[in-house]
Amino acid sequence: MARAIYPGSFDPMTLGHLDIIRRASKLFDEVIMAVVGNPGKSPLLPMDIRKNLIEESVKDLRGVKVEEFQGLTVDYAKATNTTVLIRGLRAISDFEAELGMAQANKQLFPELETIFLMTKAEYSFISSSTVKEIARLGGDVSQFVPHPVNDYLREHFSRGTKQK
Ligand code: COA
Repeated sequence: MARAIYPGSFDPMTLGHLDIIRRASKLFDEVIMAVVGNPGKSPLLPMDIRKNLIEESVKDLRGVKVEEFQGLTVDYAKATNTTVLIRGLRAISDFEAELGMAQANKQLFPELETIFLMTKAEYSFISSSTVKEIARLGGDVSQFVPHPVNDYLREHFSRGTKQK
């Protein structure tokens, strides 16, 4: 069975991420969306929320699982017996960091192959930070994120605004 992992912070998942996982699910029998929970990162959305929103967003995709992990991505790949890692590339500006990560991962786990899928042009400007900023300032992010994420952000930020 061909299996791949698609790791990320997904804070929150965007339509760009959804596009990548949808396409990856056509290439592999199983794709695990691996949500990183390292304490070094300070995500806005708690792990259980990020995970639930992804599960809701991908529930119609065949062969997609959502898991959380701590520690190194290569250790997670080894633990799940996976030798393919998927990442999306939006623009040339992503390339340097992604190349560095792919090379470091390869050094740590030589059997691991990183496969890059090019983000669809219409999603290439979307980032999780942009989405959070627009939502925080009361803007409409429905065209950037899956429905469950949009519902959560609307609820979360309108509650925050009302409390002030
Ligand atoms: N469409 C739209 N946006 C996309 C995208 C796509 N296809 N692909 C990435 N992005 C954006 C995200 O929205 C996010 O935006 P932000 O910078 O504003 O937050 C950004 O690109 C990256 O987020 P994400 O894809 O969620 O992943 P990440 O870069 O936070 O995750 C890991 C990186 C998890 C793969 C990496 O940190 C890791 O492996 N961590 C584990 C520890 C480890 O092994 N370290 C050694 C690595 S060599």
